[in-house]
Amino acid sequence: MEYNISIRVISVKANNNFLKNYSYIVHDDISNTAIVIDPSWQMKEIEKKLSKLEMKLSAILLTHSHIDHVFDAEKLSNKYNAPIVMSQIEYEYYKFDSNNLITVKHEEIINFENIVIVSLITPGHTKGSICYLIDNNLFTGDTLFIEGCGICWGKGADPSDMFDTMQYLKTRIDKNVLIYPGHSYGKEPGEIFESVCKENVYLNFTDRNNFLSFRMRKGQIKLFDFK
Ligand SMILES: [Fe+2]
Repeated sequence: MEYNISIRVISVKANNNFLKNYSYIVHDDISNTAIVIDPSWQMKEIEKKLSKLEMKLSAILLTHSHIDHVFDAEKLSNKYNAPIVMSQIEYEYYKFDSNNLITVKHEEIINFENIVIVSLITPGHTKGSICYLIDNNLFTGDTLFIEGCGICWGKGADPSDMFDTMQYLKTRIDKNVLIYPGHSYGKEPGEIFESVCKENVYLNFTDRNNFLSFRMRKGQIKLFDFK
């Protein structure tokens, strides 16, 4: 598979007490188009980076509707007149509200200039979580971290769906794709999927019941203690 060399990913990090949050800007050098993924708590930093290169913000992509992924979405959307993209399921289930929303379905392809986005519905953490595949980059929100996978309790969450999602990603994603999650629990974003598959225990279950009991095990003192 050939990749588009004009596409590059800029990570924007935020620390909000105990969470290390990541938003991403995907920039196409040729058209100078940019999209932002999961903007939250870093609006000034995002604006600074956009204006430095005079990028045109064309869309805001949301992996799911949790506040730490959407906090600045509406403000950015209004300021740049850029649509917000979210999965149809997530929108309907959680009643996400926006004046400028585009909803997408599983394996739907949309593009903004040279930035071609494939939306992969990956439920488990929420009902309609999405991973966005853009060139050889996969933006995984709280579905897949380098170190683990998202928690599976809360409204619309389901560990059985998460098991299916893990199996699906293993078959759908090329080994050389780079993984950009919504949070880091030790490792920097952008790790190659091949190494994530080797190191991440959640991608290595083949039995649903074993996955379910491990993901939902009691006594997890820290929510993000993955092993
Ligand atoms: Fe989340």
